[in-house]
Amino acid sequence: MLPLHTTTMGPPISRNLHRTTKKAPTKGSSKPHKAKAPAPVAETGPTSALPIDLLQLLLNIFRDSFQDRLSSDIKPLLQEVKGHLYNRDFATAFGKEEYLEAYALRWSPSRALCYLQIFDDLKNKLKPFNGVSEETEDAEWNIVCLGGGAGAEIVTLGGLMKLLEPVDEEHGAELKITAIDIADWSNVVTRLREGVVNKPPLSKYASAAAQEANKALTDPACFSVGFHQNDVLNMSFEALSKLVEKADLVTLMFTLNEIYTTSLSLTQKFLLGLTTSLSAGALLLVVDSPGSYSTVSLNGTEKKYPMQWLLDHTLLGPEASAQDTPKWEKIKEEESKWFRLPETLRYPIELENMRYQLHLYRRLG
Ligand SMILES: C[S@@+](CC[C@H](N)C(=O)[O-])C[C@H]1O[C@@H](n2cnc3c(N)ncnc32)[C@H](O)[C@@H]1O
Repeated sequence: MLPLHTTTMGPPISRNLHRTTKKAPTKGSSKPHKAKAPAPVAETGPTSALPIDLLQLLLNIFRDSFQDRLSSDIKPLLQEVKGHLYNRDFATAFGKEEYLEAYALRWSPSRALCYLQIFDDLKNKLKPFNGVSEETEDAEWNIVCLGGGAGAEIVTLGGLMKLLEPVDEEHGAELKITAIDIADWSNVVTRLREGVVNKPPLSKYASAAAQEANKALTDPACFSVGFHQNDVLNMSFEALSKLVEKADLVTLMFTLNEIYTTSLSLTQKFLLGLTTSLSAGALLLVVDSPGSYSTVSLNGTEKKYPMQWLLDHTLLGPEASAQDTPKWEKIKEEESKWFRLPETLRYPIELENMRYQLHLYRRLG
């Protein structure tokens, strides 16, 4: 283990998340905003190659799941959440139902689309894309989303089921999702899962053909989601093991740097616990802002280490084998990649393109 721990600092999360934010939010600046017509959401440049209709369906799930929140002026609420994120006061930012819904409406949709692109890019490495052999008939895919309460991963996986449809008919893929998060996102998770497994609402004037074509992303029997409110840094090894031991894939999407910032030593302990709990072949997918770093105290001097260096050090470094923990291999790495939203997408709140780093590891036997 590194002799770590004084302070851990990354850039303020709001900067990571809101790249196009021009000024820090000011308290009391929540004057009412006129509702704007839905605007195109993208910048220029290469965009996602996924079917636009599917991407729009995913955005609609967020819009329709929190329609009541959208029917009032959401901008002051978003401004408040932004302020708490900027101050790194996550307990307050994620401490009220209205804040959670506002967050899910504003920050989860572009993430959900980006993650679907990531899953599509990784398809030759992910189990459901590779089909099911007749011998095993193991069509179940267990996914644990750590820090996954805000719903982006859930909606992504709903979209993945749609992408898998041709494979699905043949193999009957079934997703079992476990979302674990320190904040109580249970209502957001329930609503978004409903949005995935139910037909989208249609206008009463919709044509018979539109009604006929209207389908849910996937069958509820094939898409289960369990939510557990837990602090991953302070869970007992047994409790963590119970939730992750069957996982084929564990995700840490825009969460690792946050927990490193909370405590570097607890994060290392948690990653080693995760390593011990998972079976050979399980994958760990880490996506975060490029350039995230933590400050580490080493022999009395402080040094900044990039998040990915710390992660590799814990999972692949000499300490991992010295402690006789099972090892990992890294199977994919992206230092910095853009996800750009296609311009034709429509959403009632402005969304942003995003940049990310990605690390995919496989647990060895
Ligand atoms: C920046 S958000 C990312 C949400 C989501 N994964 C996404 O990509 O959109 C970080 C999430 O990690 C959760 N989180 C932070 N610290 C945590 C901890 N110690 N244990 C569990 N969840 C935690 C937060 O509550 C929040 O939902």
